[in-house]
Amino acid sequence: MELIDWKDDYLVHIGEIDEQHKRLVNIINKLIEAMDEGQGCEMLETVFKELIEYTQTHFANEENLMESHGYPDLSGHKELHKNLVAQVVDLQKQFESGRIMITMQVMKFLKDWLVNHIMSIDKKYAPFLNSNGVV
Ligand code: FEO
Repeated sequence: MELIDWKDDYLVHIGEIDEQHKRLVNIINKLIEAMDEGQGCEMLETVFKELIEYTQTHFANEENLMESHGYPDLSGHKELHKNLVAQVVDLQKQFESGRIMITMQVMKFLKDWLVNHIMSIDKKYAPFLNSNGVV
C-alpha cells in the first residue's frame, strides 16, 4: 500500500506542530510497512499503541497552544479530537480482540483520518495562531 507522502500543503507553519504531524505520518507509514511486510500481530499492536499514545500527546499539545492564545473555536476542535481518539481506540480494541485485521481499509481510514483533520480542521487555527506570533 502506498505510504503517505508528506507534502508542504500539510504545513500549518507552526514549527512544533508541523514536526508532530510529520511524526504521526511516520508512525502511520510504519504501520503500513509492517502490514505490507506481513509482520506479526505483536509488531502491529506495538505500532498501533504508539500511534494512539502519540496522537494523544499531540492533541494535548495542540489544545494547550490554542488555549494559551485564546483560540475561539477551542471547544469544537477539542470535541473533534475526542471523537478521533475514540475512533482509533475502538479500532485498536477490535484489532486486539481479533475482531478485525489491519487491512487496506483500516489503513486507508487512518491515512484519511490524519490528512483530512490536518487539512480541514488544523488549517483553521493556523492563521489565527500565526497572527498571534506563533510560528
Ligand atoms: Fe493536529 Fe487537531 O490535530
